[in-house]
Amino acid sequence: MIEHIQPADKLSGAIRLPGDKSISHRWAMIAALAEGKTTIHGYSTGEDCHSTLGILTALGVEVEDGGSEVSISGRGLDGLTVPKGTLDAGNSGSTIRMMSGILAGQPFVSRIEGDESLAKRPMQRVMTPLAEMGARIEATNGKYPPLEIHGAKLKAIDYTTPVASAQVKTCVLFAGLFCDGETIVREPVKTRDHTELALRMFGADISSAGRVVTLQGRPKLVGKELTAPGDLSSSAFFLSAALMVPNSNLVIGGVGLNPTRTALLDYLAGLGAEVKILNVGEQCGELVGDIMVRGRVQRGGVISGAMAAALIDEIPTLAVLGAATGGLFVKDAAELRVKETDRIATVAENLKRAGIEIEVREDGFTVPGNQKFQAASFDSFGDHRIAMAFAVAGLVAEGPCQIERAEAASVSFPEFYSTLRSLTA
Ligand code: S3P
Repeated sequence: MIEHIQPADKLSGAIRLPGDKSISHRWAMIAALAEGKTTIHGYSTGEDCHSTLGILTALGVEVEDGGSEVSISGRGLDGLTVPKGTLDAGNSGSTIRMMSGILAGQPFVSRIEGDESLAKRPMQRVMTPLAEMGARIEATNGKYPPLEIHGAKLKAIDYTTPVASAQVKTCVLFAGLFCDGETIVREPVKTRDHTELALRMFGADISSAGRVVTLQGRPKLVGKELTAPGDLSSSAFFLSAALMVPNSNLVIGGVGLNPTRTALLDYLAGLGAEVKILNVGEQCGELVGDIMVRGRVQRGGVISGAMAAALIDEIPTLAVLGAATGGLFVKDAAELRVKETDRIATVAENLKRAGIEIEVREDGFTVPGNQKFQAASFDSFGDHRIAMAFAVAGLVAEGPCQIERAEAASVSFPEFYSTLRSLTA
């Protein structure tokens, strides 16, 4: 599908975003292992989170999938059943890595695979700790999906994750649910903590101290009625757009403001943007509020170290913002190369198509500021965040742009283009 984007002379309005993708995956998986029914309002409408629901169904869980309204009849910790065929994680790295932790604790063998992009994403990061816990996992060339997971009676471990990855932390904690005793995960930098908050909310005994998380095995998890906050990572596209298009006035309501995710807001404020957070409250263990942005970005940005891990999903759109405003320097972000696409390569290719200068390195790039986007045909390369980042670039280009394979946005945000049009109309 080709999406046409017209240059915009203003961007204004109040929007809401689909439910948080990270939270939706976790709540659904934990709900399946809980006793009783869980209802999730505002579940992510993105395809990734529906791949998770498909897999839970294939494992014998009764799921009513009403798009953003989902109910899951939990089967208890030992209630999943042998799937008939291969489990399909689609495009979702979160699904395959987090589900692997659950599948490793089952008394059966399962096979899990995904699409062409997922087949190129590294899985050793979850295979190593799961092997240490006692599961046997076979993978293509020892590291790529499909994974054949021989579940086992797992033993609790004390694991230090070599990469800053909330997916890996979650995988080990989910496997730890099936162990007797204490599972400990130590991280190099603290990553998003939705798993810890959710497990506690469903009744597990889990505690965090800095970068160390400790979970007591075999908890009794109990179903809940839940409402997911809007996805802060999806807000990045609109916040960037508002800071580039003149005369913008944007309010995004009901967004998740978990402090392990809000590096984006700190980063934008650091560039000189006026970011206001209003109506903050707690909802189902997570902070939620409204975001208002105004004003111009005056400074260039630097993303490195722990910031690179915290902003990893937002870097493509921040590169577009940097090119049009004060520039962006990124290092320590080699993880970008193993996302849905090699996001250093796909960002660079699209920027070049619009005549934007970029210098690429193995773990980052430099985009000088104050550049003008020429009218261009961008390609999502099948990556949702690349599709949305360059749709935003189209708003400030010198002429109409198009996004090839624009449908990729549906992986996290099926309503993205209509929401964008509602703000520029
Ligand atoms: C996610 C963690 C991040 C992020 C992904 C979602 C999660 O991946 O990029 O979009 O929900 O835990 P890593 O854990 O690989 O850094």
